[in-house]
Amino acid sequence: MSAAGPDTPPSTAAPASAAVTRLKLTNFRNYAELDLSLDARPVCLFGANGSGKTNLVEAVSFLGPGRGLRAAGADAVRRHMAEGPADIWAVYAEALTRDGPVSLATGADPADPARRRTRLEGAAATQSELARLFPMMWLTPREDRLWAGPRADRLRFFDRLVLAGEPHHGQTAIAYEKAMRQRQRLLDQWAETGRIDPDWVHALEREMASAGTALAAARLDALVRLQGEIDERPETRFPKADLGLEGTLEAWLAEGLNASEAEDRFLDALAGSRRRDSAAGRSLTGPHRTELTARHRAKDQLAADCSTGEQKALLLGLALAQCAALARARGAAPVLILDEACAHLDAARREGLAAAILEVGTQAWLTGVERQLFEPFGAQAQYVEVENGRAGAVS
Ligand SMILES: Nc1ncnc2c1ncn2[C@@H]1O[C@H](COP(=O)(O)OP(=O)(O)O)[C@@H](O)[C@H]1O
Ligand SMILES: [Mg+2]
Repeated sequence: MSAAGPDTPPSTAAPASAAVTRLKLTNFRNYAELDLSLDARPVCLFGANGSGKTNLVEAVSFLGPGRGLRAAGADAVRRHMAEGPADIWAVYAEALTRDGPVSLATGADPADPARRRTRLEGAAATQSELARLFPMMWLTPREDRLWAGPRADRLRFFDRLVLAGEPHHGQTAIAYEKAMRQRQRLLDQWAETGRIDPDWVHALEREMASAGTALAAARLDALVRLQGEIDERPETRFPKADLGLEGTLEAWLAEGLNASEAEDRFLDALAGSRRRDSAAGRSLTGPHRTELTARHRAKDQLAADCSTGEQKALLLGLALAQCAALARARGAAPVLILDEACAHLDAARREGLAAAILEVGTQAWLTGVERQLFEPFGAQAQYVEVENGRAGAVS
């Protein structure tokens, strides 16, 4: 794609990757109204601190499954200054997707404004459908501390990478967590009352075993594909990582147990750990406890021990490798949102980032305080200036 000349129509660049062609916001965060028309090129947003750049990419993240890049509740995104019950918030988008052009609307449910509802082509959309049509990944300043921070955040980050290539992964995770919570409630009652319904616990453990094995298998698949991509990639400006997943089920599957053997073994482990989990007040084994590990290959150092800049570069390298892996496997890279990712990169890395994004042909969304940060994209990106809750395309 780097060979594309200035006359090449940009919208033909990546037909299979989702690209937003129109984005309308109503009473969303600091936007009263916004109506942006776009093409399939990457979108570079620039503007002062507090102008509304992250809010805008948060709206984009609402097109995919889940609660978006701030994990915000439906109430939090409603514009504070909005008045009256009629002023509900909404995000509307038109996009080119693998199924062709679609329209998607998400916003406060008029019947219950504290809830969010999403409609695809006018009909209720499932999370798996959104994951399939709008596979999405993001890196925000929140992820700066990912390697040194809590284990659960790393796992959530990795599960999002997995979800970008496996649209059912999110639903599987929800099914697992739900069964785990219900089982724990029974075990808590057992501790209090001494009574338990063994058939009911067993049924929930079966559900945990089945969903848990699917979770671990999808993670392992994604890890193998991602590591393969990293290993084969030519050296770029971004460091290579050696990744690992430390989890009981993942280890069994990696050792060569097939899915039904792993599921049976996990079911036995759950049955055998009722007393311990009852005493602990939580489930002590299972894929919710898996640890994502990473080493900086060139430095032979744990990611957590690397400098802040190196940690960020490792994350960017992972995100770009996952985009490339999915572009290869699925013919479409996920939408990539990089909030404030360029600010701390040197000129060579900014160039490397632009080249990698253009190569996978995804409509990436990048934010930064200054337009110059995006110079390496040249005419192969579109530029949007953001100012105090207003945004407009600039040439
Ligand atoms: N629900 C809301 N209603 C109105 N304004 C909001 C809401 N949520 C956040 N904001 C404001 O939006 C502004 C822009 O935020 P943000 O998009 O994070 O800026 P930046 O351009 O630095 O990324 C902030 O000043 C914030 O206070
Ligand atoms: Mg911001």
